[in-house]
Amino acid sequence: MRIAIPRERQAGECRVAATPKSVGKLIKLGYEVTVEASAGAAARFSDAAYEAAGATVEADVEALWRDAALLLKVNAPDAVEIGRLSAGKTLISFVRPGQNETLVEAVRASGATLIAMDCIPRISRAQKMDALSSMANIAGYRAVLEAAHHFGSFFTGQITAAGKVPPAKVLVIGAGVAGLAAIGAARGLGAIVRAFDTRLAVKDQVGSLGAEFLELQFDEDGEGSGGYAKLMSKEFIEAEMALFLEQAAEVDIVITTALIPGRTAPLLWTEESLRAMKPGSVVVDLAAEQGGNCACTEPGKVVEAHGVTIVGLTDMTSRLPVTASELYAQNLVHLLTDMTAEEGFVVDLEDEVVRGALVTQGGEVLWPPPKPAAPPPAAKPALAAVAAAAEVEKGPSPPWLLWATLPLALLWLYLKFASGGMEADDGTRAFLGHFTVFVLACFVGW
Ligand code: NAI
Repeated sequence: MRIAIPRERQAGECRVAATPKSVGKLIKLGYEVTVEASAGAAARFSDAAYEAAGATVEADVEALWRDAALLLKVNAPDAVEIGRLSAGKTLISFVRPGQNETLVEAVRASGATLIAMDCIPRISRAQKMDALSSMANIAGYRAVLEAAHHFGSFFTGQITAAGKVPPAKVLVIGAGVAGLAAIGAARGLGAIVRAFDTRLAVKDQVGSLGAEFLELQFDEDGEGSGGYAKLMSKEFIEAEMALFLEQAAEVDIVITTALIPGRTAPLLWTEESLRAMKPGSVVVDLAAEQGGNCACTEPGKVVEAHGVTIVGLTDMTSRLPVTASELYAQNLVHLLTDMTAEEGFVVDLEDEVVRGALVTQGGEVLWPPPKPAAPPPAAKPALAAVAAAAEVEKGPSPPWLLWATLPLALLWLYLKFASGGMEADDGTRAFLGHFTVFVLACFVGW
């Protein structure tokens, strides 16, 4: 079966769906691979490198699409590319079917199979194929670099002969994959970092990266199904915005990543917050493409409002094209490894990962997939109480008993011998002396 890797046509896109390394892995899986001429040029992968890895390089785009049964892309196909699809062909790329109904309908009509990398379920087994996470990680890192580029000072504090420079204060809103990557990168540059998320489960992760987790005194947790965020109440969002308004005067850089799957991004950084910021501050709005978390964001642009630079770039991942292509290509290799049986490429509808990402097949739209079965009910509290009671009855665990009794027993023996209460020859006495020192050394060392 032949796989084709077309060059990405979207303006400014530098990523590619296969690297010379991933081509080698696809060939090992039993596929033949054709790469469009210059497909990897913007990510610095030459045609010669693809050929050396075993791929054929094709300059004729029509022939490339005609001869392949499986097409791997980064971005969703455009109208011309959809025109080259037909029954028997499978295309795998980012699709965002929820926002691209016309595109989905056009692919359905072509009879082709469409698999969306952005719909791979976020379950443990599928982590290695989770392209959303791979790309969000890069976006979070790049967001910090963009902020640093537009910010007129250091991130880390410095004391120099010429004077003192305070460290930059960074606020990260939304501590998902992108937010955590942004926290790590900003801390790495030496900034003081604070973060806020509606899901309290991320508090420890934020702390472990050396950032302060801001909390609202509000009895509402944002944890929705599958570990994703849920829509918060109007009161919560108002309290959150009040907290941000307080923070606005203090922080120099804000990186917003707040998103609820399938919805437009919540507006969290208002014009009032922008006005409260120091002139020269920077807001990087990673949610720009989904409507933006900041009031004055313009998707794809860097603008200035109320003295603050607002970065609404939507191509953060493409700005790190080498790593973004490598990780995305690797996600595809993992997916294809799972979808390759002895008889070749198989779309197994029983496979939860494949079913979750399958958008169209055989002239039908199969997305969204059926809801997964509800998890089994949690253990009954009564049972938990019985277990706890048994634990109490058991008392302290045996190793602790041993540790507590051993030194006491030794001390007792030692005192007995020392006071002459017990007969012992010289050898036994010397052994006991050394053994006591050994046990004491163990304790001191511990
Ligand atoms: P995610 O779904 O893993 O994380 C979003 C986080 O926002 C979650 O932790 C959620 O709890 C939090 N959140 C939701 N509502 C909130 C609220 N009201 N206040 C505070 N936090 C809230 O998403 P991920 O993968 O981290 O991606 C983050 C964003 O980055 C997405 O919007 C994604 O589309 C975007 N992105 C942007 C790119 C670009 O080039 N601009 C490239 C890649 C991703």
